[in-house]
Amino acid sequence: MTNNTFSERLLAWYDQYGRKDLPWQKNATAYHTWLSEVMLQQTQVSTVIPYYQRFIERFPDINALANANVDEVLSLWSGLGYYARGRNLHKAAVQMQQLHNAKVPQDFEALLDLPGIGRSTAGAIMALAYHQPFPILDGNVKRVLARYDAITIWPGEKKAETAMWQRAEQLLPTSRIANYIQAQMDLGATLCTRSRPDCNRCPLQTDCQAYASGEPTLFPVRKAK
Ligand code: ADE
Ligand code: SF4
Repeated sequence: MTNNTFSERLLAWYDQYGRKDLPWQKNATAYHTWLSEVMLQQTQVSTVIPYYQRFIERFPDINALANANVDEVLSLWSGLGYYARGRNLHKAAVQMQQLHNAKVPQDFEALLDLPGIGRSTAGAIMALAYHQPFPILDGNVKRVLARYDAITIWPGEKKAETAMWQRAEQLLPTSRIANYIQAQMDLGATLCTRSRPDCNRCPLQTDCQAYASGEPTLFPVRKAK
């Protein structure tokens, strides 16, 4: 099967079933995308929504966030958990104000230099906000890829991680990159779930090696003891 087919199937599925009305999708500026992606790093969508809305109301742009006292940022963050994310968010806003004209840089390496932004979050910003062909590899995407290829190495292994980044890169479409990245996240979050993947509704079923094995939930494989 060609690489195109993977993305074409995912995109066709997205058009029918993907999420298109999340608050940060309505006006997907880079600021909105960055803020939501950081909030979504360890927290689920339904929890994030009211926090996101309070944040953009109080901090409508990067200057507002950078000029705020960090304690106010943390008090609005309170309840989302992982306070380091809130501190890093504020630090990154200050850094963007100082180095990038109060804008989210449109450059992958510059994004990686900001506190709280790793390779996957930087890729999500490049793809979702700037429509540039960068892969992501969050927990959902790792699970989908580990199943699709029936990867037999535990994903925490460096070589599995490296192989999955390469695969994610190779599968990228040449158009509709933002929709494609959102589709990957949505498939992992709503259909290819950890304990009950709904393979019968999955657009990838015919090529999925984990499905073919008859035991999709055996992937991603566990850590060898
Ligand atoms: N998890 C991380 N990023 C997400 C997004 N953009 N939409 C839904 N879930 C996500
Ligand atoms: Fe996941 Fe099942 Fe789809 Fe494979 S066929 S990607 S295991 S939902």
